[in-house]
Amino acid sequence: MGQIHGKSWLEINLAALASNFRKISRVLPPSTQILAVVKANGYGHGARETARTLAEAGCSFFGVARPEEGAALRTGNLRGKILVLSHLDPPDAPLFIRHRLTPVIYRADIARSLSREVSRRGIPSLPVHVKIDSGMGRLGLLPSEVPPFLRELRRFPNLQIEGIMTHLSDSLDREYTNVQRTRFEKTARLFLDAGYRPTYTHSSNSGAILMRNTGNDNMVRPGLALFGAYPEKRLQAKCRLAPVLTWKTRIIHIKKLPSGFRIGYGKGVTNRRPRLIATLPLGYADGYSRNLSNCASVLVRGRRASVLGTVCMDLTTIDVSHIPRICPGEEVTLLGAQGRERITAEELAERAGTIPYEIFTSISAATPRIYQHRPRKPS
Ligand SMILES: Cc1ncc(COP(=O)(O)O)c(C=O)c1O
Repeated sequence: MGQIHGKSWLEINLAALASNFRKISRVLPPSTQILAVVKANGYGHGARETARTLAEAGCSFFGVARPEEGAALRTGNLRGKILVLSHLDPPDAPLFIRHRLTPVIYRADIARSLSREVSRRGIPSLPVHVKIDSGMGRLGLLPSEVPPFLRELRRFPNLQIEGIMTHLSDSLDREYTNVQRTRFEKTARLFLDAGYRPTYTHSSNSGAILMRNTGNDNMVRPGLALFGAYPEKRLQAKCRLAPVLTWKTRIIHIKKLPSGFRIGYGKGVTNRRPRLIATLPLGYADGYSRNLSNCASVLVRGRRASVLGTVCMDLTTIDVSHIPRICPGEEVTLLGAQGRERITAEELAERAGTIPYEIFTSISAATPRIYQHRPRKPS
């Protein structure tokens, strides 16, 4: 890694990703299909590489948030189906067709613009998924909106209802999840009664999968769990997943600070005793949250070292007083394992007052991603 000096980089273990995919498959009923959610640049891990690895592991359905993300995966030659989970802006309809992306619809005007584009291109039909809002209050049809929507849908026979979906608000809360599922299943039945025969129904994210609470669906949509992290710490006992990402940097400078010397911006920390302080070449502009000031650890020579002082825009200071014989150039792990120690995304999230999702997706896109342990293609 000698060439990467003076900044941070990510090492992405693709074999761990493939292994998580297989582990998740094993906790599901055999007929359940996995739609791998690789939005937000594969939760910061790199969408193209992670989707390709998952495809080689047997995944044939992917989820992204925006059509541009789907288009980028297609340009990278991803073959499987790609469901665009979020909103479809009517002017983006051609992008869906050009890149064979599957839209999620929940409004008649969206259906109309798609249907028009499908006719204009002379395509016989376009598969779509319909989103039901069963208790998230965000996107999707409220159950009461479904009957008028079904009447409108009759006017667009070139839209093939391939799936019906909903999104869970708190998949770790069985009671509320059951309320959502009951509403979802009742609403999905209206589509059956109207003569539609969707291939898939889906609602479960990582939490619901790890809670073994995927209802009667035949497709699930894990994201975070594929990357070896858990929506909540207590789920770690449910399935052993392998972390995929390691975030590393190198010490750029070390100095001995006398007692009474201040470290960092603002009131910062006043050194009560002489300390050896190392400076790291990254900060909140790289996605290492400012909330980690004075409360996170990093790993140096397999030992924990505390972040001391405020995380700055592009520099961070750590206390290495207890680690002998280190010099500038020493490798530091910000997230991941070093020796017997490990810093998880869950730990960083807890310290920063956020969730592992935000820890991953905040890592700057400019940070180099190095792909390692590429699993062998099945022969
Ligand atoms: C609609 C939808 N489905 C599935 C997921 C995956 O969730 P998770 O990463 O918790 O598995 C997300 C993520 O936010 C989502 O927005």
